[in-house]
Amino acid sequence: MRALARMCRTRGARRWQLLASALVMMLVVSGCASEDLPMNALDPAGPVARSQDELWDLVFVIAIVVFVLVEGALVYFVIKYRDRGESTPPKQIAGNTKLEILWTLIPAVILAGVAVPTVATLFELAEKPTDNPLEVRVVGKQYWWEFEYLNEEGQQVVTSTDLHIPAGRPIYLSMQSLSATIGDPGVEALDVKTGDVNGGVIHSFWVPRLAGKQDVVPNHTRNMTIEADEPGLYEGACGEFCGLSHARMRMNIIAEEPEAFQQWLDAQAEPAAEPQEALAQEGAELFATQQCIACHAITGYEGPDGQLAEQRIGPNLTHFADRTQMAGGIIDVNEENIKRWLDNPQAVKAGAQMPRLGLDPDQINALTAYLQSLE
Ligand code: CUA
Repeated sequence: MRALARMCRTRGARRWQLLASALVMMLVVSGCASEDLPMNALDPAGPVARSQDELWDLVFVIAIVVFVLVEGALVYFVIKYRDRGESTPPKQIAGNTKLEILWTLIPAVILAGVAVPTVATLFELAEKPTDNPLEVRVVGKQYWWEFEYLNEEGQQVVTSTDLHIPAGRPIYLSMQSLSATIGDPGVEALDVKTGDVNGGVIHSFWVPRLAGKQDVVPNHTRNMTIEADEPGLYEGACGEFCGLSHARMRMNIIAEEPEAFQQWLDAQAEPAAEPQEALAQEGAELFATQQCIACHAITGYEGPDGQLAEQRIGPNLTHFADRTQMAGGIIDVNEENIKRWLDNPQAVKAGAQMPRLGLDPDQINALTAYLQSLE
């Protein structure tokens, strides 16, 4: 009997040790939630994300109160009415109408209360901003994001992976999903609401510090607003499984001072720079003869036989060397990575739509020099 009691004591101590270490672990893990996390939705960096975060705070507080009340009552009753060896069964309350109404009403009232600010925020954020928003078209492709700016003069800038925005100004996004297999540049000019475009898959545009997710659905135009208070880099990713390289469909939102942004946009609207070095000039010719031109646009490009580069299947490369990252934001734009990519895109990013072109090292060198000249 005494041995049994000792065993129970050690078991009890063991349990407390486990509980204590679990608590310490929780503290350690919560310490990871530092402000350095680039995709921390609980660290909002703009008004849209902030209003969503405030909503989250409210719901979280209510959830905590409910949790403490329910679990507190549970623990209290478990202890107070624990089995003391008296075998009389407690009074049964099944079918008690008053109680049934009470515990149906309480959660209903709580949920209705939460719904008021939730629905209000939903409607508020769905509105197109009235204070001079910058409109950007976003196209989800497999597996990268394309961004298109249109200004009043009809000047068009098409980029990918890096989305430059002015800080402190709302950005109103019109988002569509297109499969990379659609070849005709005219197709993308269509209003996809007509359903004339198909073959895309569902992506989800997600920049946690600027706004919550918004699904990007084929044959529909979805809108959302993002805004950054301060210049900085805000990382984003596709938030909806869209295929083999879904996890490699990333993006960089680069918020700049308005003047710097305007300078950037003006520079982007310029046609591509003429290659100066012989190697880059050779690469520019290969661009036409080695099939690159069948998928990629370069504004101002003219091939050896006068070919124009206007396709929008792959990323627009007019100012490719200006971008920080390539291949859907998984590798930096530098000589080594460009060469790796040109040699075998599939080895860098499985499922990428760019095929292996069978380029030899000299061709890769020349094309790399040309791509790096596209500033
Ligand atoms: Cu696009 Cu996941």
